[in-house]
Amino acid sequence: MNRVSLSGIGVEIPETSISNKELVESFNIWVEQENRRRAAKGLEPLPGSSAEFIEHASGIKARHVHTFEGILDPDRMAPFIPARDDDDLSVTAEFGAKAGRKALEDAGVDPAEVDMVICAGSHLQRLYPAIGIEIQKELGTGGAAFDMSLGCSSAVAGLHIGFHLVRSGAHRRVLVVTPELITAHLNLRDRQTHFIFGDAATALLIEALPQGEEKAGRFEVVDTRSWTQFSNNIRSNFSYLNRAALEDTSMVPSEGNLIKQQGNKVFKEVTVAGHRFIVDFLAEHGHTPETVRRFWLHQANARMNAMILKLSFGGVEVGHDRAPMVLDRLGNTAAAGAIVAMAENHKDMKAGEFGLLCAYGAGYSIGGALMRMM
Ligand code: COA
Repeated sequence: MNRVSLSGIGVEIPETSISNKELVESFNIWVEQENRRRAAKGLEPLPGSSAEFIEHASGIKARHVHTFEGILDPDRMAPFIPARDDDDLSVTAEFGAKAGRKALEDAGVDPAEVDMVICAGSHLQRLYPAIGIEIQKELGTGGAAFDMSLGCSSAVAGLHIGFHLVRSGAHRRVLVVTPELITAHLNLRDRQTHFIFGDAATALLIEALPQGEEKAGRFEVVDTRSWTQFSNNIRSNFSYLNRAALEDTSMVPSEGNLIKQQGNKVFKEVTVAGHRFIVDFLAEHGHTPETVRRFWLHQANARMNAMILKLSFGGVEVGHDRAPMVLDRLGNTAAAGAIVAMAENHKDMKAGEFGLLCAYGAGYSIGGALMRMM
């Protein structure tokens, strides 16, 4: 069995940021317009959204978006991303390749030395050809590529597979790319979810580590784990089957097929499952939460992460130095969030210290990777 190192991390965050205030202003203008239509039909008015609620309930203050145009337009409320020709680089492959290139540069590895690309994201643009193969072509990596998806746990699930491919000797270097262009899938007219997501792409380069070798400043991936349990509480019904479900096929798939979630149920159920996952996974490797220097947790809700950690640390509050947050400025970037938290918060770790990457989301699914700083 090979030892495995995480040799490069790449993060691509779009420049444009939208604050809660800006998002809520646009939402509330749409609500006013809608309520005039509803009043004419004698229907109950819709409630507005509130920037204070969003920050209090989720910890999110702002989010970065891949494409600004259209998002705040109350008559559109969706980014405008024109379709590209089949021969042009697709928008998510382009987004992922930017992060992939940064991970290769960080590792100092030539693209040709990579023999597998896994595109692991909650938001894959199409069924085929695989986005991973397009990224492989764009970056010039060798070997093979494929796509996989497991909600917000996609990047850690990709790492789980990549880790075992390298560990077993089947592949020498695997690049796990996660392009999360979620704002295009978000229902910006839904009060419960309009504020949650932001866009980001990440990439992780993992490779075999020769016996006895230590790479200072890099992580050895000690082990990875994946957990799933069926739940309907976070769901997207967006599918090629939407068209087949319509009697009139000239109609476009309705907004009812976009992301929806029963946030408070997810909060409670995933908090308990996440805490158990962390404690059990660490115990299997002779660790307790106290022996782990840093936790890079999924970036969905600040209160939820605080609760998971408090449960895991026997009632003790854990600060942001131990468990960094990036969702206040980025929103929930799905599978990219925990990777961004790790990318931005590991350079101060000392040799021999451990870190735990752990993401949770739709499925339900949870994934984790235990890392040792070399
Ligand atoms: N503006 C103002 N008020 C709002 C609102 C908005 N945008 N959205 C909901 N509310 C109101 C509700 O109507 C409700 O009012 P009521 O108490 O009068 O009925 C109240 O706020 C609470 O709503 P609830 O949906 O219970 O909010 P919450 O505290 O659970 O927070 C989330 C919502 C989504 C932030 C939170 O549940 C969450 O983050 N859950 C976990 C999500 C997650 O981890 N997903 C997995 C990974 S993607």
